[in-house]
Amino acid sequence: MSMLNPHLPSPSLDEQVREATAAIKARVDINPELGLILGSGLGFLADHFEDVVSIPYQEIPHFPLSTIVGHEGSLVIGTLDGVRCVCMKGRVHYYEGYPMARLAFPVYVMRGLGIHTLLVTNAAGGVNPDFNVGDVMVIEDHLNLLGDNPLRGPNLDHFGPRFPDMSYGYQRELMSLWDKEAESLGLSLRRGVYAAMLGPSYETPAEIRMLHRMGADAVGMSTVPEVIIANHCGIRVTGLSLITNKAAGILDQPLTHEEVKEAAEQAKASLAPLVRQVISQLGEESP
Ligand code: HPA
Repeated sequence: MSMLNPHLPSPSLDEQVREATAAIKARVDINPELGLILGSGLGFLADHFEDVVSIPYQEIPHFPLSTIVGHEGSLVIGTLDGVRCVCMKGRVHYYEGYPMARLAFPVYVMRGLGIHTLLVTNAAGGVNPDFNVGDVMVIEDHLNLLGDNPLRGPNLDHFGPRFPDMSYGYQRELMSLWDKEAESLGLSLRRGVYAAMLGPSYETPAEIRMLHRMGADAVGMSTVPEVIIANHCGIRVTGLSLITNKAAGILDQPLTHEEVKEAAEQAKASLAPLVRQVISQLGEESP
């Protein structure tokens, strides 16, 4: 008999995952194999899906909803270049106030739907002084500086162990895949470490100097919770950061959300073919 713990959510996280997964499965025939969490304006890739089913987050039990006005969110399921995908169109950030486990919950749901690989993209500030606006960095590793972990709380044993390994948080073979596909498109990519800060204020110049000394190459406010959950439940992960600005203090000028959005918008045209080419290689039946 299970004891009810008044400090834990009811229904349990486990039951929430099951309810959300069942609600989605009742509406789609496709078993997705690849999960996509696309930041930095790349969500439009989901508009190219075939056999598409789009489910607003409000219609999925327990899904976290963005608190930012105008940020709609929906889960889009379909095929892209023959690969069965589930895409989170719109993501929730930790700074919006949700407990971290709840924020990363959609990754368990994607696992429940059957994905084996997760592709994440984000917009980030360049901490590495060699990085320029418009550069694309393959994420080699991360620094979790959010002060929390999405696995805090009872462990979902059937998804993964209490103390999951993070030595290969981002798959090496998939890093090489980015290089190979970028080369065929005549693009060159950076590699580096992504540091996740809580935000929503941008960093101070002193914080950026600290991050640089800690080994960070890029800084942002997302991605890490989802990547930890994916590793917990055995999903292989690959990720890209689009450098939308030089991090605070590198140039003697303020940072604005407008410049971040503008740089993301401008990078779309070159980034979309690369991401699409990599996706086409990530299906079970891909070459
Ligand atoms: N800092 C944090 N998050 C960001 C930045 C930054 O400079 N640019 C885009 N997202």
